[in-house]
Amino acid sequence: MEESWVNSAEQIGADLHLELSGPGGRRAALIRALREAVRSGRLAPGTRLPPYRSLAADLGVARNTVADAYAELVAEGWLTARQGSGTRVAERAEPLRPAARVPVKVPPRARGPRHDLRQGTPDASAFPRAAWLASYRRALQQAPNEVFGPGDPAGRRELREALTEYLARARGVRTEPGCIVICSGFAHALRLLFGQGGGGVLRGPLAVEAYGLGFHRELLTAAGVRTAPLPLDEAGARVDLLDRERGVLLTPAHQFPTGGPLHASRRAAVIDWARARGAVVLEDDYDGEFRYDRRPVGAVQGLDPERVIHIGSVSKSLSPALRLGWMVLPERYVDGVLAAKGEREAWASVLDQLSLADFIVSGAYDRHVRRMRQRYRRRRDRLVEALAEHAPRVEVTGVAAGLHAVLRLPPGTERSTVKAAAWQGIALDGLGTFRHPETDMPAGDGLVVGYATPSEHAYGAALDALCGVLPPGEQRGPASG
Ligand SMILES: Cc1ncc(COP(=O)(O)O)c(C=O)c1O
Repeated sequence: MEESWVNSAEQIGADLHLELSGPGGRRAALIRALREAVRSGRLAPGTRLPPYRSLAADLGVARNTVADAYAELVAEGWLTARQGSGTRVAERAEPLRPAARVPVKVPPRARGPRHDLRQGTPDASAFPRAAWLASYRRALQQAPNEVFGPGDPAGRRELREALTEYLARARGVRTEPGCIVICSGFAHALRLLFGQGGGGVLRGPLAVEAYGLGFHRELLTAAGVRTAPLPLDEAGARVDLLDRERGVLLTPAHQFPTGGPLHASRRAAVIDWARARGAVVLEDDYDGEFRYDRRPVGAVQGLDPERVIHIGSVSKSLSPALRLGWMVLPERYVDGVLAAKGEREAWASVLDQLSLADFIVSGAYDRHVRRMRQRYRRRRDRLVEALAEHAPRVEVTGVAAGLHAVLRLPPGTERSTVKAAAWQGIALDGLGTFRHPETDMPAGDGLVVGYATPSEHAYGAALDALCGVLPPGEQRGPASG
């Protein structure tokens, strides 16, 4: 049996895998293979076939074998041959495709919710396609050839320089390009820091906030890291309760999901604790750009770059589909993280890195964040107004920043409200979903409502639907955070 990839692109335009096998010699095998390629649609009607000589060379057969096979298929009506336009697949060859005759069972397409109010994703319809494309084009035009070789696991220097300036200006982060490692987002950063099944640069136990993303807790558990829950109050995580843990993971700008910033005294206290214990603070700055009513809360990293690992990504500001993030490291961890990443860049596309660098340096990132901040602020305001009008006893909290709000519900109503919402085609999460299983902090009933996910035109209907399922006119639960 002989096989060949025919990719005489100027004739076929795509790779064509021909397998010469079966009885009757090469001519018969080639006829069968070409017939099959036409029948299956791999060779579309009108496609120009390679000249005899090049196909013969690709397949390692005599030129006459190809000429004979083409002639046979022209006679059968599969191909057409015309002076000056070469041999092409006949226009009427299509009905013979088996796919058209054999009924194919198509699995039902997973239908999304009618109203998606889950937290987590920005408005996908607002991705800045034109500006990103312009950055991508510039990046590609200006990229030196070495860009197309194996990438540096630290990430492109251009992006690390752009981030150094941007993070200093927008988030108060103090660093230099040599202390930034590009990764594919926060989850990847956790994997790099703690390893998978041990072997990272950090070890547990790790204190975490009593409410947080379960996915991140699971990731840590899978890496063999024990997580200890820290209760929350109106000033944020109770860092005064930190003890013998080796580190603490916090969302200081906007506690996830309850929504408050970590109070200034707690920020100072956690740094004192880390210095005294030789511990490290992991700062998850997942939506630090989106603060609405006051100046953004600066990064804790700015208080002590030697004690804090600051982690950010474009998942909220641009799109989680880009899978681009950054770790700002104390210098002592850089080599270990690079070793965990491997010898070459295996995660973050170098072209996307260069595009993001251009996007930041050209000012497009700031413009996009400003535009989205206005849009999300309007949505937040509409949510607050709608609740005030239709569900006045439901308290809305955590709305000074971010892309989601927490709606405090009367005790004992969280489950039934989430269920009722699901019946109405509304996807959202109960607050309990985010609770650390070992915390003894008093639970409050609530909903976590993401107001960024629906597209602009769908948001009003989603709000109406939400108001329709909220418990009417009862006493609300105790507020916290
Ligand atoms: C609490 C929290 N941290 C971090 C992230 C970002 O994760 P990633 O960068 O892996 O997409 C998210 C989601 O966007 C989040 O909700």
